[in-house]
Amino acid sequence: MPNRAPSDALFTAHIARLGQIFTHSLTAAGFDSVVIGAGFQHYRFLDDQTYPFAANPHFLWWAPIDNAPGSFLCIRPDARPSLWFHQPEDYWHKPPATPTEAWLAEFDLSILRVPNEARANVPTGAAFIGEPFAGIEEWGFSAINPPALVDRLHWERAVKSPYELECMRIAARRGARAHVAAAAAFHRGASEYGIHLAYLAASGHTEAGLPYPNIIALNEGAAILHYTELQSQTPAERRSFLIDAGAQFRGYACDITRTHAAEPGGRFGSLLAGLEAAEQQLCARVRAGVHYPDIHALAHRLIAEILVNEKIVTCSVQAAVESGLTAVFFPHGIGHLLGLQVHDIGGHQAGPTGGQRPPPAADRYLRLTRTLEAGTVVTIEPGIYFIDLLLAQAQRDGRGRDINWEAVNALRPFGGVRVEDDVLATDGEPENLTRDAFDAFASA
Ligand code: GLY
Ligand code: MN
Ligand code: MN
Repeated sequence: MPNRAPSDALFTAHIARLGQIFTHSLTAAGFDSVVIGAGFQHYRFLDDQTYPFAANPHFLWWAPIDNAPGSFLCIRPDARPSLWFHQPEDYWHKPPATPTEAWLAEFDLSILRVPNEARANVPTGAAFIGEPFAGIEEWGFSAINPPALVDRLHWERAVKSPYELECMRIAARRGARAHVAAAAAFHRGASEYGIHLAYLAASGHTEAGLPYPNIIALNEGAAILHYTELQSQTPAERRSFLIDAGAQFRGYACDITRTHAAEPGGRFGSLLAGLEAAEQQLCARVRAGVHYPDIHALAHRLIAEILVNEKIVTCSVQAAVESGLTAVFFPHGIGHLLGLQVHDIGGHQAGPTGGQRPPPAADRYLRLTRTLEAGTVVTIEPGIYFIDLLLAQAQRDGRGRDINWEAVNALRPFGGVRVEDDVLATDGEPENLTRDAFDAFASA
């Protein structure tokens, strides 16, 4: 499977594009330069142990360095970006090695032994983007995370460069390989924890390197949207398996969900097949110019059709959507922006200069309300779940009258189904990064 890093030329073009974005954004926001902090390690309360380090995504956008807290970038229009790389003298921990990859040639590199050494190099009037730190007021920044600058950058982050897309394709192949290993572990009879270990081994990630904690649920656990309990006992009866797990390359994430049935056929198999087909219909809608909430609205309609076909509800498709009955079974958004963050920033932003466009209350968990542009990567992740809390609410508020409780009770022990792909919007046909990655793996 070709998993080579993107070419140097792609990275060079990516840096040139970022240079344009930053030049324009700095000028519009009234700054001559910006310093971007990678971030710092954080200690647990009353402890000398740190949390896993996660680099500032603005830093990662420029430099694929995720292991050098205390580093900075300095960006000035019409100048090469400076990388102030923090490499402490430390014999307790391994200091981050100076990068040797060809991409380093895009930066003017200097080494910091302590982060404070960077202070003398800060240009007059520079803005700062990143996590504020003790003593920052002495560094002379004219603004810290100014919205006039940050909003523009968040808006631009939604559209990926060819380099970023190549990173995301590599992440998708890494994730697909691990999903195949996880499915095999399930069919061998592994526990949730055993499946998790199989996933990690096949992905090559440590737990801290995953873009988000693995959701690996057998049976009823699949009804908990972000279930991360990882039981080490295999249940006596294995009925269903939902896995929502990702991978990353140079900080760019994939976000993939698959649901498996222990036995083919039956009510649960039919529900899963229906959801798979709906998911593919929804993925086909991803393209430039499409208002993403329209895909969410279509998802409710398709889910209503499945609920009627599977005799889970007794009313019409239209009534199920209009009464909010579909939201009992599909209580989250259809997806979100994807990139350096799993829920990439800016999903509710109204425009390049900021402002918020939140979803209506009935769809409050929809994370993306923008119109898609070519180069935007989104997830499409419909699901149908049997969640005790929401079913009880429906029983109380009257929506339960249209529920076929015999069907619901038969399906409750399976938890639920979700299928999630990562899809690139273009001016033409969408590119399904996830399906392509599984296909590449199957044909390798
Ligand atoms: N894995 C989190 C999500 O699908 O949004
Ligand atoms: Mn997702
Ligand atoms: Mn997911």
